[in-house]
Amino acid sequence: MVESYVFEQTWESERDRLASLEAVYDGPTRERLAALGVGEGWRCLEVGCGAGSVARWLAERVGGTGRVLAVDLDPRFALGVDVPGLEVRQHDLMADPLPEGAFDLVHARAVVEHIPERDEALRRLVAAARPGGWVVLEDFDVEGPMADAVARYWPSGSEELAGRLFRALEAAFTAAGVDAGYGRRLPEALASAGLVEVAARVHAPLLPGGTAFLGLTLRRLRPRLVGTGLLTDADLDATIELTERQGVMHVPNFMVTAWGRRVG
Ligand SMILES: C[S@@+](CC[C@H](N)C(=O)[O-])C[C@H]1O[C@@H](n2cnc3c(N)ncnc32)[C@H](O)[C@@H]1O
Repeated sequence: MVESYVFEQTWESERDRLASLEAVYDGPTRERLAALGVGEGWRCLEVGCGAGSVARWLAERVGGTGRVLAVDLDPRFALGVDVPGLEVRQHDLMADPLPEGAFDLVHARAVVEHIPERDEALRRLVAAARPGGWVVLEDFDVEGPMADAVARYWPSGSEELAGRLFRALEAAFTAAGVDAGYGRRLPEALASAGLVEVAARVHAPLLPGGTAFLGLTLRRLRPRLVGTGLLTDADLDATIELTERQGVMHVPNFMVTAWGRRVG
C-alpha cells in the first residue's frame, strides 16, 4: 500500500516551497516551451499547476486569443489571480475527465513521477493533446548512482553526507510511490505512449547558498527522510545548513525535460 502524495499540502509553508521550486526551474521550462513555439492563440493544459507561475506565464504568452486550463489536486495556491484567458480548476488527473484532443500543449512538471499509475497518467495527458500537439513532461532523477553524481556538486568534504541524503530521498520517495528515476525514463515513456519527434534535455542547476528550494523540501520531508534510517536529524540539519551557507554551491537534483508530438 502506497502512502498519499508525498508533499500533501497541509503544511503552511508548502506555498513557499512551491514558489521556491518555480524560482529554480521556471527558467529552463519557459525556454523549452518558447522553443517549441508556444505563442498567440495556443490552447494549453497545465497539469499539477502547483503555485501556478507556469500557467500564468503561458496565459500571457498565448494572449487574448489563446486559453490556458490549469488543474491541480489542490489548486489553492494558484487561485485568486485574475489573468485573462486562464482558468484554474480542482482536478484529479487520475479520476476526472479531461477534454480529449483539445490542446496544442500539455505540460506537467514534477507531477507524473508522484503518480503510482504513471503509464495511465501519461495516456490521459497524451489523449488531451490535439493531433500534432506537444506533450512536455519534466521530472527528477535521484535514483541509484545519481545520489553520488549530485553529491559531487556539493562543497568538498560534504560528498559522503550529500550522497546519503540523496539515497535517503530516493528511499523516502520510493516508499511513497514516487518513481525517483522517472526523469531518466521519460523519453522512453513518451515514445511508448505513441508520441513522435521525442527529444529531451537534462538540467542540473548549481545553486548558490541561500537558495530556498532544497532546504524547504528537506524540512518538509524530515520525518520521512530520518525514517529511512540512512541519516539522522543532525545529518539533516548539517545538509540544510550547507544549502544555506553563503559562498558555496549545491545541486538539488537533476531534472529531465522531455517532449514529443501527438501523431497528426
Ligand atoms: C511537486 S508539485 C509541482 C508543482 C508545479 N508543477 C511546479 O513544478 O511548480 C506537484 C503538484 O502536482 C499535484 N498533483 C499530484 N497528484 C496529482 C493528480 N493526481 N492530479 C492533479 N494534480 C496532482 C500536487 O497537488 C502538486 O501541486
